[in-house]
Amino acid sequence: MKKQIRKYAFLLLIVFGNGYAQTKKHMDTKKPIEERISLLIKEMTLEEKVGQMNQYNGFWDVTGPAPKGGSAELKYEHLRKGWVGSMLTVRGVKEVRAVQKIAVEETRLRIPLIIGFDVIHGYKTLSPIPLAEAASWDLEAIKKSAAIAADEASASGINWTFAPNVDITNDARWGRVMEGAGEDPYLGSKIGYARIKGFQGETMADLAKVNTIAACTKHFAAYGYVEAGLEYNSVDMSNSKLYNSVLPPFEATVQAGVRTFMNSFNTLNGIPATGNAFLQRDILKGKWKFDGFVVSDYASIREMIAHGYAKDEADATAKAVIAGSDMDMESYLYVAKLVTLVKEGKVKEALIDDAVRRILRVKFELGLFDDPYRYCDEKREKEVVGSKANNDGVLDMAKKSIVLLKNEKNLLPLKKSGQKIALIGALANDKNSPLGSWRIAADDNTAVSVLEAMQQYKDNQLTFEKGADLLSQKATFLTETIFNTTDKSGFEAAKTAAKNADVVVMVLGEYGFQSGEARSRTDLNLPGIQQELLEEIYKVNPNIVLVLNNGRPLTIPWAAQNIPAIVEGWQLGTQAGNAIAQVLYGDYNPSGKLPISFPRNVGQVPIYYNKYSTGRPIDSDKNVFWSHYMDVEKTPQFPFGFGLSYTKFDYKNLKINKTTFAKREKIEVSVDVTNSGNYDGKEVVQLYIHDEFASIVRPIKELKGFELVNLKKGETKTVHFTLTERELGFYDNNGNYLVEPGVFNIMVGWNSNEGLTSKFELK
Ligand code: BGC
Repeated sequence: MKKQIRKYAFLLLIVFGNGYAQTKKHMDTKKPIEERISLLIKEMTLEEKVGQMNQYNGFWDVTGPAPKGGSAELKYEHLRKGWVGSMLTVRGVKEVRAVQKIAVEETRLRIPLIIGFDVIHGYKTLSPIPLAEAASWDLEAIKKSAAIAADEASASGINWTFAPNVDITNDARWGRVMEGAGEDPYLGSKIGYARIKGFQGETMADLAKVNTIAACTKHFAAYGYVEAGLEYNSVDMSNSKLYNSVLPPFEATVQAGVRTFMNSFNTLNGIPATGNAFLQRDILKGKWKFDGFVVSDYASIREMIAHGYAKDEADATAKAVIAGSDMDMESYLYVAKLVTLVKEGKVKEALIDDAVRRILRVKFELGLFDDPYRYCDEKREKEVVGSKANNDGVLDMAKKSIVLLKNEKNLLPLKKSGQKIALIGALANDKNSPLGSWRIAADDNTAVSVLEAMQQYKDNQLTFEKGADLLSQKATFLTETIFNTTDKSGFEAAKTAAKNADVVVMVLGEYGFQSGEARSRTDLNLPGIQQELLEEIYKVNPNIVLVLNNGRPLTIPWAAQNIPAIVEGWQLGTQAGNAIAQVLYGDYNPSGKLPISFPRNVGQVPIYYNKYSTGRPIDSDKNVFWSHYMDVEKTPQFPFGFGLSYTKFDYKNLKINKTTFAKREKIEVSVDVTNSGNYDGKEVVQLYIHDEFASIVRPIKELKGFELVNLKKGETKTVHFTLTERELGFYDNNGNYLVEPGVFNIMVGWNSNEGLTSKFELK
């Protein structure tokens, strides 16, 4: 009987359910993917091919105003016709299933959608903002954090994240500084690589697992160098900078196997990145042999008209596709113009076929053809999203991201009992700001606040006073953030609390929506009246621990001079408060190091450690004609790589195995590091090189190695580095990699400014 039922069910499946699969050769899972793609492309009409290259935003604008050229009705009509290859911002199993159902049940060829989402530092359970994660220098932790994000996102129906952002930047004014890994291409490359492995899994085969998602390296390229830190501004840059500083992290992610790239809003030397064939065709798909696809940035194809690079919609469409942009995110142009352009002979169909092949390849690799609903499991969604394990994971990442900037008078760690502590600052009681501005899926006010976390340490007497609000108005992801609070009525109560306390902990910095996309600032000081509050409190009790919460380097010259203890607490995500409290109380010994220089004032920007020397770098003649400012030192407030610990590390015995090397010989460097303080701890040991003389001037220092070393109290370890041609060479202005003979200085140290030095010669 059972057998008969099975047979009957099987027949039904062939006739009704899976009949399509039986007749379509591309559904044969035994065939290699490339063959399956070719079979499918052969069946596609031009309209259906172009449809694969069209991506619609599916969430905000269904409820809000429709962007130029589109409406929710139009999108659903296109979806049914098979004119949509991907949707973004649709989230949650229920929603994703609904749109996927249209694609695989109502369209002629039943090609599944790839569902994209900005999973920037987590989905619902948020990790620290990427700049903060970079401060950990802990590649395993960063990979794990990306894996947690992938786990939650994939459990919610998503199979593609628009991350990692690998934009190197030297400009703290730019709001998106929070989204990258800081100023250094070497650190940025390692982190970009780690994040790809975290999102996609270790091997290509892992991409087909249900808990991994395709990653998207962005923004290609040079977006971090927008002039004056002004969002969406133009970029003008030398080839040397492009090849040596901007491109390496992008290339590293290609080596890690990233499946997609996103281009960028900015122009690069006069050509919008979206219409830039040099970047997308010559470098990415040519030189680097990238075989995934490129998605435009949001409406960036249409924006080429505003840039003055395309004369109309058709021109923008042609320029983007010819330059190598495979998928149109929300410009509504490929779907509207591309078929005609091909028919008129203005765009070759071969270009369309290539783009479609790339897009289908990723869909096949994700396993979407084999089961389009594989990311749509309600049970898994319930179990995974917000799980205890994920919260533990992001807490771990958050602790590792904290940087101790100053610790005098032994203020930190705080004592666990018998202390009177005044906690001051609106951010101390803010459950929203630690989530940062990229948290579309996370619910508002879901971060653990510093106040909540400090209340867990019950043997101290804790008083909280906000002192002053940060904002006069509620800010959201889509609205302008306004900071005009002038209300100082809370100052007195805060001062009284401080006066009665042994130690004051002040949590100051930026509101969550004060960094991120479209959130550039020209003033990097503590916003609003916070500086005034800090100085007022200092007058009554100078024993202050300043905890910064911010999405970018801030300028805090007064605090750096006067406040005895400073902790960089960034925007640390869902578990922010717990991470900060554990560091303040010494349950976790901080080991973070800054991934970006902190300027003394905004006029120093751009300021970065790996700069070139001038012809007059130092004051040798005691006269005015040397490279300096009249009003401020030219060094940063806190240099790249800087960060303290509750313990102390001593460096000794820097050794290089020889003094002279032939090309291709390995250079072995070692140093002894001792934990000579009173706590177990971790140290990021950093190796920098300086090529003294080259055919193109080289930076005064370049990070070329780092090791995160665990050292018990009293313990010594020898840390080893190996340098090869990969670390010693550089790109010339034509993108050729050169390794030139000469003297190399090396420094192994505890930040980009301090360490032991030696040198060797490359013959
Ligand atoms: C951003 C991208 C993001 C996209 C989709 C754009 O405004 O620049 O980084 O992935 O929107 O939300």
